[in-house]
Amino acid sequence: MKIAVSGKGGVGKTTIMALLAGALRKQGHEVLVIDADPSPHMAQTLGIGDSSKIKPIAEMGKLLAERAGKTEGSPFYNLNPEVNDLLRDFMLEKDGIRLMVLGAIRTAEGGCACPENHVLRKMLKKMLLTAKEAVLVDMEAGVEHLGRGTVAGADCLLIVVIPSKSGVRTALKIKQMADEVRIPHVFFVGNLIQSDEDRTFLTTELGQEPVAFFPDATTIRQTERAGQPVIALEDGLENAPKVLLDKILATLTH
Ligand SMILES: Nc1ncnc2c1ncn2[C@@H]1O[C@H](COP(=O)(O)OP(=O)(O)OP(=O)(O)O)[C@@H](O)[C@H]1O
Ligand SMILES: [Mg+2]
Repeated sequence: MKIAVSGKGGVGKTTIMALLAGALRKQGHEVLVIDADPSPHMAQTLGIGDSSKIKPIAEMGKLLAERAGKTEGSPFYNLNPEVNDLLRDFMLEKDGIRLMVLGAIRTAEGGCACPENHVLRKMLKKMLLTAKEAVLVDMEAGVEHLGRGTVAGADCLLIVVIPSKSGVRTALKIKQMADEVRIPHVFFVGNLIQSDEDRTFLTTELGQEPVAFFPDATTIRQTERAGQPVIALEDGLENAPKVLLDKILATLTH
């Protein structure tokens, strides 16, 4: 399964993807996380070391081109570094979770990071995964990735939304774009939830109930401030990572 995330800036995309990675691991899935944010900090959130040590996927272009010529028609990717040792330099691995970094390079004018996004798009489209493999793509805020069709190859898009009017407005816009690029499953995920009123607000304003509600958790705040990885956190989450994963699995495996 290939899962991407979107949402307004700072709503908790990276945090929720890390917690989802943890939930997947716990159920015995192989997890590859792709940090597609130009200022990546997934490595720290996962507690997986220093991502500046890995080669960004952006530099994979040549490798891709070479392979594409040789393996016409067959899937390019085998994500297992034991089999495909060319990939080793592009990954960090810890406790069964692998991390790759997109490494978008921006021009001074803020122009688009086209080569990087091309590689990511191609990867998502071509990757052949077994039932036990999951790819999670953490993205920067906003709708740019969707506009460029970068994540069109994802099976599922999570839209993280906090209970505010402007949060809902952005979430609905993202949903519309996700439908336009035909991502098969699009789920709203509520974050920073404090009360039933928050839950009702989101459900009413979005026109559907989010598949999971992540509480506004002191434990997350404390973990983040201590510079600790959030991935292994369980306390104070009201089981939200598992609820989210179960919904995703129920949808994608049917
Ligand atoms: N449910 C939560 N409870 C408490 N704090 C949270 C929660 N979710 C996220 N946070 C905190 O909010 C901040 C932003 O979270 P995060 O980095 O995951 O957001 P983001 O959407 O990935 O941001 P960006 O758009 O910059 O990539 C972090 O300090 C994180 O620890
Ligand atoms: Mg983030």
